[in-house]
This record gives sequence, structure tokens and C-alpha cells, in this order.
Amino acid sequence: MYKNVVDFIQELYNTKEFLPLHEPRFIGNEKKYVNEAIDSTFVSSVGKYVTQLEAMIAEFSGCKYAIATSNGTSALHIGLKLVGVDKSCEVITQPLTFIATANAISYCNAKPVFIDVDKETLGLSPSKLKEFLEEFTVMNEVNECINKITKKTIKACVPMHTFGHPCKIDEIVSICDEYNISVVEDAAESLGSYYKGKHTGSFGKVGVFSFNGNKIITTGGGGMIVTDDKELASRAKHITTTAKVPDPYEYVHDEIGYNYRLTNLSAALGVAQMEQLPLFIEKQRELAKEYEAFFKDLDMQFITEPENSNSNYWLNAVILKDRKTRDSFLKYTNDNGIMTRCIWRLMNKLEMFKDCQCGDLSNSEWFEDRVVNISSSVIV
Ligand SMILES: Cc1ncc(COP(=O)(O)O)c(C=O)c1O
Repeated sequence: MYKNVVDFIQELYNTKEFLPLHEPRFIGNEKKYVNEAIDSTFVSSVGKYVTQLEAMIAEFSGCKYAIATSNGTSALHIGLKLVGVDKSCEVITQPLTFIATANAISYCNAKPVFIDVDKETLGLSPSKLKEFLEEFTVMNEVNECINKITKKTIKACVPMHTFGHPCKIDEIVSICDEYNISVVEDAAESLGSYYKGKHTGSFGKVGVFSFNGNKIITTGGGGMIVTDDKELASRAKHITTTAKVPDPYEYVHDEIGYNYRLTNLSAALGVAQMEQLPLFIEKQRELAKEYEAFFKDLDMQFITEPENSNSNYWLNAVILKDRKTRDSFLKYTNDNGIMTRCIWRLMNKLEMFKDCQCGDLSNSEWFEDRVVNISSSVIV
């Protein structure tokens, strides 16, 4: 059976050579714009491409403001700071995510609380979130949500749209609103994915995208903060650019800021990639349809977009019978030139986060044992 899978993927990609999991595609104006950036001498964090990429992402995602950053992790870090996360706080997130989500919480000296994902979405479960908040929290006199066990304020919640598939973000936002918890949406993987017709990343107070080399579009390394809140947007710009106060001569900085700006060189690449994004999404959705039809008759389940959503199918994945089958599938495919990878080890099982509070994580554990990512480069 595994041989069938390898044969099918090699046929799809029309190659018997080694196939990486997700390669970028540069088929448009990438070289032209990067060369223009070099010729202009504006290669660093100021330049027309940074501004242009910000405008393109704001328009595409339907958010009023977009602020470019050096990567998705720094965007998350700043997103959490924008909503006031600090050492006195806890932040709810899912254990089934890339390390950056939990790391960004730690950069704020806050602690993650891990709540399970839904079986249908692989993203944070609104029902388990509600159960946790009902059982373990109380609102104080200034309307903060207090964890009854640790006595800390639960300030923010970071749901993540796994592999590009939207979670039930509207329900999550309305539960969080009830508890005065700010939602910072980790949409690093889901540029081009919609939930109930609205772009992921635009539901929370702040949303975050990544343009890492393995994402649906890339700037080499880069990220974006999106928000509809003018004040948060200008604060994001300020603290990602060393918190420098405008002055014709002097270097004056009014707080500890960060050098988290995207470079104009990277943004030039990003602008060219954004021009290709509609095509990339179309091709990813076609590829997913092919996978879906192929896996229908096999003893493994191809993960499809959840109800009410339109996914960018950034990273394709299958569910195997159990961990043993998962491991033999991983070995066979990688030994035969098809790069596949298992899903992340759960955050609560990592040394740094092993003491964090968790809800019931049975769905996350189920996925951890079974999910494997398969070839997902755009076929053009
Ligand atoms: C879910 C998630 N969050 C955050 C990030 C961080 O983005 P970056 O690699 O650009 O720092 C990534 C991807 O890399 C991711 O997959």
C-alpha cells in the first residue's frame, strides 16, 4: 500500500527525484523586484516594498492595518505584547502547534495553558475552552479572568489554524469576549484560508502570518501583524522599529523596542509572491482534491477542510491507524525519496512546558500518534 502512495506522489510531481515536503515556487517577478530593491540601495527596513507588501496583505486579509515583521514568531511576540500580556499573565493555546506559538508566550514571561483541539478542525476546541473557563476561572472586580488555581490573569488566547485549515474561530472569539480575553490569532499557516467567508487572522484583536520559506508564500523569512485597531497598529509599528521617537537629528527611544522589521529585500520577494498567491491557492486546492480521491480507497484518511471553511491546503496530511503504522509509513516514504514528517510533539510534553496547566488533551494526543504530512509543494 505504501508503494502505491509513493508511486502516486511521484506521478503527481512528475519526478523520481527526492521530493521535499514544501518547496517555494518563484515563477513571477521575484528576481525583478529583488534586483530593483538592490538597485535602489534600500535593502534594509525602509523601502517601498515593505509599504507595498503591508498594503497588499491588509487588502487581501480584509484587515485595516498590516505591519511587517522579521518573521511570524516576532509577529506573535508583538501581538501578545499589544494586548498586554506580561509576566503576571497566562495565555490559553493549543498543545498541537508549532513551537513558535508557545515560545512567543514565554518571550512575554507569561505561561501557556494548554486546551485541546477539535477532531474536525485540528484547531483549538471552543467547547473544551468553555468547559475550562467555566470550571477553573472566576471574574474579578475589574472584569479580569482569573485562574482559580494559579490566581493569575488569563489575558489572551492564541488559537491556531492548523496546516491552513480554519478552526471554529467565531465561537472562540465570542467565548473569549465573555471572559474579557483577547484573541491573538496564529494564522501563520493560513494565508488564503477563510472561515464563513472571512479571512483567518481577521477575527481576533490581532492576527499573525508567517512568510517562512515553507509557507504558501515566502519572503525568505518574514511575518505580518494584522489588526483593525488603529492604536494597536501604530504601537506595533513603533515597538517593532526600536521604539524610536521621530526626531530630525537625535536618537530618542521612549521604551524598550525591538528590531523586528522586515527588510525591503525580503518584502520585494513578498510582493512578487503575493502576485502569485491566488494561483498558488487554486493549485493547492486542486492538489488536495487529487489526494482526497486517491486516499478514499486506502486505509488512511486524508485531512480535508472543515465545515464552513475554505482552506489554502498549505500542508497536506493523512491520519494513520496508530503510532506504529505512522512510524512504518514515515520510514517507507522517507527511504523512498518522499519527504514526510509526523505532526509536532505536543507542547505540554516538551521540557520547557511540562509544568503548564492542561485540560483534557485526548484529541491532541490522538492526532500526535497518527498524523503525517505529505508532499505539499505547489504544482505549477
Ligand atoms: C503555527 C505557527 N506559528 C508560528 C510560526 C512562526 O513563523 P516563523 O517561522 O515565520 O517565525 C509558524 C511557522 O513557522 C507556525 O507554523
